[in-house]
Amino acid sequence: MSFAKLDPKEAANLIQHDMTVGFSGFTPAGSPKVVSLSIAEKAKAEHEAGRPFKIGVVTGASTGDSLDGALARADAIKFRTPYQSNNDLRKALNDGRAEFFDMHLSQLQQALRSGSLGKIDIAVVEAADVSDDGEILLTSGVGSIPTTARMADKVIIEVNSAHSKDLHGIHDIFEPADPPFRQPIPITSVRDRIGTPRLKIDPKKIVGIVENNQPDDVKGFDELTDVTRQIGANAAAFLAGELRAGRIPSQFLPIQSGVGNIANAVMAALNDAKDIPAFEMYTEVIQDAVFDLIDSGKVKFASGCSFTISPPIQKRLYDDLKRYRQHLILRPQEISNNPEIVRRLGLITMNTALEADIFGNINSTHVLGRSMMNGIGGSGDFTRNAYLSIFACPSTAKGGKISAIVPLCSHIDHSEHSVGAMITEWGVADLRGKGPLQRANAIIDNCVHPSYRDQLRDYLKLTGCAHTPHTLSKAFRMHVKFEETGTMQGVDWA
Ligand code: COA
Repeated sequence: MSFAKLDPKEAANLIQHDMTVGFSGFTPAGSPKVVSLSIAEKAKAEHEAGRPFKIGVVTGASTGDSLDGALARADAIKFRTPYQSNNDLRKALNDGRAEFFDMHLSQLQQALRSGSLGKIDIAVVEAADVSDDGEILLTSGVGSIPTTARMADKVIIEVNSAHSKDLHGIHDIFEPADPPFRQPIPITSVRDRIGTPRLKIDPKKIVGIVENNQPDDVKGFDELTDVTRQIGANAAAFLAGELRAGRIPSQFLPIQSGVGNIANAVMAALNDAKDIPAFEMYTEVIQDAVFDLIDSGKVKFASGCSFTISPPIQKRLYDDLKRYRQHLILRPQEISNNPEIVRRLGLITMNTALEADIFGNINSTHVLGRSMMNGIGGSGDFTRNAYLSIFACPSTAKGGKISAIVPLCSHIDHSEHSVGAMITEWGVADLRGKGPLQRANAIIDNCVHPSYRDQLRDYLKLTGCAHTPHTLSKAFRMHVKFEETGTMQGVDWA
């Protein structure tokens, strides 16, 4: 069977108001780039004609500007799940123009199969290649598309020639049975392959192919700063100490590393750390720094859900795929982030906090408790099930006006029970085996910026004796002070 060629406008015309569309892609690798732009154009035209046009958008995680950005600017998103990181979409969510269901990424595919997120009308899948019998070679991200494409009534394929057809063999597509029929997922080492190299869907559902040649819309990372470099160095020194103490086995354990600048800086520091042996990664996004670690021999193998890499690194990968293929696997998110596997493999997880509190709770998502930043992503999948769970962040934000460490987080994504250690540029607080007051002292002494230490020590003294000595009427006073005066400095606890 050969499939009809569609131009992006014809493809967009298959999508009607109120449909739910499942797009491929993951943070933002492998997300479609031209059909989504045409859907945005259609939405604008419909709005101008006085007709409603909004769709539900389900992806693996965040997408590029040509998807989330374009649809948000066109006011075409009714509902979005499970993760995003686009400025315009963030604004739409925070202005109440679109609903966002922020969920653990490992749970999305099962939730879709259960029907709790509604039906998928159309899937739009970016592919490097597709055979006449419906075998799709995915590109740089797997995400949730094995499930959305299988469930969708119709499938549009965006064949993107910017991706190499030599990607064949990188992917491992596997969908577990649902409870009560689920079997153990047979991954006992980072390198295990349990599925197929291509995504197989019913060719009768493929309504057409749209051609494209645009690279992934992945921005590079910020240059390392003194702060991010020091956070990385502190993380590496902590892990080396754990290894010396025998709390991490001598052959080391697989690493999961989160998204963003801090995570990239931590990976760079691990590359330089002479006392950390070569290791494997079982992670969600494989970011730029991982390729330097593969080249240096520090990372022996990396299993993930996407190559979230900037254009120069993508060129490096595609120019040398034969060699890199021996070190890499991409899996669907319910496998890359699977709690059963995270526990079994014993991952050291390293994620980023926007805000932490002195007792060890973590806010990864909400600025000042109200505004959505990106979403919880996979951080909960990994953190809750880690062998050793680490959170890192700079001790302050906005030029020191915000302390990242506060009496009580304004929103909690990860509770104190899931946090083994906290790291800032000032040091490491090992929270394992400590009660709340001991944790608070460890965090204030080792992680808080010196200009906020006394203020937080004074907060701790307000309530004399309690297991967790909070003073409810004052717990958010630093946040309130920032909103009223533009700085968290100088809070009067009286
Ligand atoms: N209050 C207000 N703003 C804050 C803040 C705080 N406590 N802490 C940081 N910020 C701001 C920064 O100033 C920066 O804003 P800017 O872009 O306007 O300068 C922004 O938040 C991002 O900070 P940055 O230090 O660049 O962080 P990052 O790129 O490392 O990303 C997260 C950090 C938390 C947003 C990101 O890791 C994330 O989305 N995490 C949740 C999902 C996740 O962990 N996934 C990984 C699982 S594999």
